Amino acid sequence: MHEEAGGLGAKHRTTVSPQDSDPAECGGMPKHSIELSLSQILVTFALFMNLEELNKRRTFGIVSHPDAGKTTLTEKLLLFGGAIQIAGAVKSNKIKKHATSDFMEIEKQRGISVATSVMAFPYRGLQINILDTPGHKDFAEDTYRTLSAVDSAIVVIDVAKGVEEQTEKLVEVCRMRSTPIIVFINKLDREGKDAFDLLDEVETQLKLRVTPLSWPIGMGQTFQGVYSIYEKKLIIFRAHGKQEEEESISIGLEEKERFESIIGVKAYALFMEELETVHGVYPEFDREAYLNGKLCPVFYGSAVNNFGVRELLDCFVDIAPGPRSRETESRIIIPTEDKLSGFVFKIHANMDPKHRDRIAFFRVCSGVFMRNTNYYHVRLDRQLKFSNPTSFMAARKEIIDEAYPGDVIGLYDSGNFKIGDVLTEGEKLQFKGIPRFSPEIFRYVNNADPGKFKQFAKGLEQLMDEGVAQLFTKEESQRKIIGVVGALQFDVIQYRLEHEYGAKCSYEPIQLAKACWVHCSDIKKLNEFMSRRKKDLARDKDGQLVFLAESLWTINLLKDNFPEIEMRNTSE
Ligand code: G4P
Repeated sequence: MHEEAGGLGAKHRTTVSPQDSDPAECGGMPKHSIELSLSQILVTFALFMNLEELNKRRTFGIVSHPDAGKTTLTEKLLLFGGAIQIAGAVKSNKIKKHATSDFMEIEKQRGISVATSVMAFPYRGLQINILDTPGHKDFAEDTYRTLSAVDSAIVVIDVAKGVEEQTEKLVEVCRMRSTPIIVFINKLDREGKDAFDLLDEVETQLKLRVTPLSWPIGMGQTFQGVYSIYEKKLIIFRAHGKQEEEESISIGLEEKERFESIIGVKAYALFMEELETVHGVYPEFDREAYLNGKLCPVFYGSAVNNFGVRELLDCFVDIAPGPRSRETESRIIIPTEDKLSGFVFKIHANMDPKHRDRIAFFRVCSGVFMRNTNYYHVRLDRQLKFSNPTSFMAARKEIIDEAYPGDVIGLYDSGNFKIGDVLTEGEKLQFKGIPRFSPEIFRYVNNADPGKFKQFAKGLEQLMDEGVAQLFTKEESQRKIIGVVGALQFDVIQYRLEHEYGAKCSYEPIQLAKACWVHCSDIKKLNEFMSRRKKDLARDKDGQLVFLAESLWTINLLKDNFPEIEMRNTSE
């Protein structure tokens, strides 16, 4: 047990009630008024520190379809920030996307990746926190949840492949929360789609309004560089290996001859034509619109060549939001509030059977998190204290004394946390925006060793708390169904039940396409629906009513037959 239950109030609470003070006078002044002013100074100081620190935080996630270049871009950003010294350092953390059958290898990789799940580095006076998201599509749920803890996102798109399936899903999750997005179109050193076509794809498929802040000059064999619309300079591309430092030239668009001497007469003419279209078709960059998730700047570059990455980072630092306010069931939490609040968005179990503890990833939303201080665990209605909260800085994992809004810290956990759990200084809060999405593949799960039912039930429950998969219990038969995003999770569950809990499970196929969370304010209609479709209904692990649809067609039919029943795509 690393955390201790106990009852002392938070160490850094500085409010003093009149009863606490000695009524005796002190130098003609009531003592309590001195204490009050001292405490006020302390509060002001703490608030000032909090404000200063939180203003420095830029917490974001990089998302992409596998292979678009997320890992490469992350690595280049870390190189700029001095968080790593050599290229290739981040590669080892990548869960190999193609080796889907080699489950143990994936678990090993997962183990490594925990250390760099949050990569922090200083840049231009700010602290940049990158929350890593698994590249493997079977861990997409993990990525959805991680996105609940970021304040903005960078979406990487492969110039040749354009918008891909995984990108669409991830951006949809960002859109649900109005997360500000910057798009980086990668691999311009290769032949790919036309720059305008790509912008069209982003607008139609990702439903994002775009504004290019850089523009490519050529592509693949003829790629000459990009013109930064944002910084009004030309950045010349030199092929791989020679790209130690980018060569950038401040140049006005009207400097025709100079421009032509650098990129050639034809290329300049084409570029100017394209730029005119860009200005004619796309809106000017508007920071407010970006911050509200309504407008999305686009950059072009080549991550592996470290090209266009600095421009992306510099613009990101200029425009990206610091810690944003967050919605709870009862009110909006503003990061500048002095009382701590935050939530757990990910739980990672230690795969070593000798060390069963887990690490809960906790995002600080307001106040200051202090080590060895009692905090209120809202769901358990208990105080908990953490003696060794850790930061996840790349390469080193160290115990921290305090953390500020925007920070993500690791809390060692022996089973107290579920995803979505909240810590506060006493207020009963529940953050919104950490929903569960419908799984894509379903199977019945059975206990395969009747003598180990307890272990089976406990193991299943804990794995579900970690968010490995979702469990549904059928209303009629009480049979248990596991739903996952990627089939690999079935192996993960089977393996972990056996190795961590000494239980065995077996699966049986079931034909299901989607789970929908059922809502209806009309109790009569709901009861009618429930009695007519009982065989398709189940409860999720929180007891919410779920409709398990055999096909998407069934859902549409239901919408016609039961118009009052709302079929939601998420648990929220
Ligand atoms: P991911 O995390 O999004 O899955 O993608 P990752 O960075 O691993 O990149 C996928 C592949 O694309 C890698 O090649 C990487 O080197 C390559 N790549 C990334 N950026 C660029 C770019 O700007 N131009 C070109 N031409 N390629 C790029 P790989 O062969 O899969 O891996 P590796 O052998 O290079 O490590």
